[in-house]
Amino acid sequence: MSKKYDQYFKKPSIKEARKRKTTTTEILDLDQLVNIKNIGAGKHYLLMTYGCQGNEADSETMKGIFERLGFEATTDESRADIIILNTCAIRENAENRIFGELGRLKQYKRTNPDLILGVAGCMPQEERVVDKLLESYPYVDLIFGTHNIHKLPAYLETALYGKERVIEVFSDEGQIIENLPKIRDHKYKAFVNIMYGCDEFCTYCIVPYTRGKERSRSPKHIINEVNELVREGYKEVTLLGQNVNSYGRDFTDQSYTFSNLLKDLQKTDMARIRFTTSHPKDFDEETVNVLATAKNLMPHIHLPVQSGSNKVLKKMNRKYTKESYLALAESIYTHIPHASLTTDIIVGFPGETEEDFEETLDLVKQANFEGAFTFIFSAREGTPAARYEDHTSMEDKKRRLQTLNKEVNAGYLRGNQRFENKTVNVLVDGVSKNNKAILAGYSEHYKLVNFKGDESLIGQIVKVKITEVKTWFLKGELNENT
Ligand code: 5AD
Ligand code: SF4
Repeated sequence: MSKKYDQYFKKPSIKEARKRKTTTTEILDLDQLVNIKNIGAGKHYLLMTYGCQGNEADSETMKGIFERLGFEATTDESRADIIILNTCAIRENAENRIFGELGRLKQYKRTNPDLILGVAGCMPQEERVVDKLLESYPYVDLIFGTHNIHKLPAYLETALYGKERVIEVFSDEGQIIENLPKIRDHKYKAFVNIMYGCDEFCTYCIVPYTRGKERSRSPKHIINEVNELVREGYKEVTLLGQNVNSYGRDFTDQSYTFSNLLKDLQKTDMARIRFTTSHPKDFDEETVNVLATAKNLMPHIHLPVQSGSNKVLKKMNRKYTKESYLALAESIYTHIPHASLTTDIIVGFPGETEEDFEETLDLVKQANFEGAFTFIFSAREGTPAARYEDHTSMEDKKRRLQTLNKEVNAGYLRGNQRFENKTVNVLVDGVSKNNKAILAGYSEHYKLVNFKGDESLIGQIVKVKITEVKTWFLKGELNENT
């Protein structure tokens, strides 16, 4: 080991991470957490974020902490005094990419021996990963997980000034911490965590272990945050949770559900409200009804189905059937006309036969999805499905994925075609990736729209008449009267 680590050394345990305890909220005063104020003065940080919106939201908090401590952001790796990778553990290829990235970043340690290299997020929550980092990546100076971001100031102080290696990963999620600073990535749209963790334990999924017990933030804190964002000029929020439909299930002092929260947020002046991710087993009628009536709740619902086979769904511990999923989709389409449904699907789950896969294809056809994230099953150590027998070859799994993607892509196109010659509201994000003279933004149904317009429109909601439909985006003309 190249450096000592005295003050902090705590590894996670996947066994401990299964345990569920009660939740409390702590309002944190960041200024009390460091001895040396302004510890980042004259220093540059670089944060690389991988994975889901939960990680993006956590990175916004880390940036807030860095900048409160006086660090300045840089995108230049050779200039950074500290580089942190906020990692994702959901599939093996996500992890392999990050190990590769660590190998590449090692070179900067030669040119700058004082560089601090850190690994944060979901990967350090896995015992196996921490062991591998200790064994094969001794040049990593800082390792912390998803439950202790609020301790980043103390870790930075120890690593920078104590020159000690810091390894501290809690298996236990502890309290909800409010009042942490945030530097948001966008000026007009924001993520708002409504809950943390997950209690579902789908048998393939590592998240309940890496993100801990399900904990709902208090309605008051969420509503205040949304009102504050309105005051700051934000036009859109996305409410975040692993299963937003179970929001409030952990409250012991009140009965307040996701539909209650939507009803309260609908009364705010936030122009657009989205949410992700939904769980079909908990998506109740009340929620469908609120969505049907409120103008600022967007008509796009991401509703992961994972499989269309009842046998596979049972083995996945999803707790719904193909029939009940389709009934829910039907109810959504009936009550929220024009709603757009997207989904997540896993192919090649252990024991999935050709017939099971055919059931998935059949469900995809019936549910009228307008988009999907599709994955090949990846065994995650510590989860039940990693121990299930799996006789399907990778070749067959890839073929299933290809067949599925053809169907899914047809759905993207069909979904976009609905808007040909229609006028849609677009929140202008910025200029198009491929052409700087073109503006890009998302419609209410979460369709990417490109059109000609002035950069001064960025951050505004404008009307655009759709003139051309592609599989991945729509082209249109700005309605000058908006
Ligand atoms: N293998 C493949 N896909 C997975 N997902 C979660 N865990 C795994 C896994 N072990 C997918 C699910 C989930 C999405 C975020 O990632 O479809 O909805
Ligand atoms: Fe994973 Fe299932 Fe929780 Fe989603 S609901 S994070 S798939 S365990």
